[in-house]
Amino acid sequence: MKWGKWGSCFSTSAYLSAIEFCAENNINSFDHADIYGDYTTEKEFGDALKNNSALRTKIQLITKCGIKMLSVNRPANKIKSYDTSSKYIIQSAEQSLENLHTDYIDVFLLHRPDPLMNPIEIAEAFTKLKQQGKVLHFGVSNFTPSQVTIINKYFPVEVNQIEISVSHLEPFHNGQLDQCIEHKIIPMAWAPLGGGSIFSAIPDQKSKRILAVAQGLDKKYSAGIDNILLAYLTAHPAGIIPVLGTSKIERLKSAIANTGLQLEREEWFMLWAASTGHDVA
Ligand SMILES: NC(=O)c1ccc[n+]([C@@H]2O[C@H](COP(=O)([O-])OP(=O)(O)OC[C@H]3O[C@@H](n4cnc5c(N)ncnc54)[C@H](OP(=O)(O)O)[C@@H]3O)[C@@H](O)[C@H]2O)c1
Repeated sequence: MKWGKWGSCFSTSAYLSAIEFCAENNINSFDHADIYGDYTTEKEFGDALKNNSALRTKIQLITKCGIKMLSVNRPANKIKSYDTSSKYIIQSAEQSLENLHTDYIDVFLLHRPDPLMNPIEIAEAFTKLKQQGKVLHFGVSNFTPSQVTIINKYFPVEVNQIEISVSHLEPFHNGQLDQCIEHKIIPMAWAPLGGGSIFSAIPDQKSKRILAVAQGLDKKYSAGIDNILLAYLTAHPAGIIPVLGTSKIERLKSAIANTGLQLEREEWFMLWAASTGHDVA
């Protein structure tokens, strides 16, 4: 989301060297959505990928559909809205395949729950895309447990990509992570560092408290505050996969070096208390 127009505005060669660095270092899943960069980032990434065809089998491409944004690149859209009709899902997948210059998408997600979504129609679209070999795995993003349950009744949901971080603890107690464990659904955490808010020049009170605890833990682990916050997520038994938002290779290197960092249980709760402002009951 932040490699293109909504962030670092990578050139084709910068995309390619970042993808190559990741692929060589076991960071092999890339999170896209049709809308990123105002509908431009998928294609920029795909154009870079075209320059090294050996990369495709070493990486997994995730992308999403369902949000229709107001954009000069989509002049027909009259208002921001959601569309999870069968026709729109299939059309979006085909557009993403073209943008990414690939024959298949590894993981295709519905980006937001749509108040008008019809699980039977969604299952029909997913089944067709799977049978055609255009998509290998399917999931959702930002879905509540009941919304996952209703889709899961008609088609297996393999991923729920949701906001999870020390700054955003809801999934730990709203049933989303419980459901992932129960149904072996992979939880992917977007904004795993709170979208970078904790590093802001003027942090809010919650961020200040989290930062103070994370800095204390960093003295012990020498891992970097960002990696302390990632370890907070990977500690959970649901097997949370953080979707890193950085565009800096040094930060990726540091995350790789600190994979496997394990916090003590009480340290985990210190971060919890810093986030909520009080100890658990
Ligand atoms: N499904 C959804 O609805 C949804 C919604 C939002 C995002 N997403 C996905 O989730 C991904 C991650 O979200 P996010 O970008 O909000 O993630 P994030 O990793 O929480 O935040 C990334 C931001 O934190 C900054 N940052 C990271 N480490 C830092 C450090 N040590 N010091 C200072 N700043 C630091 C990064 O800046 P630098 O680039 O300078 O490192 C970047 O601006 C997105 O790229 C997108 O693919 C999905």
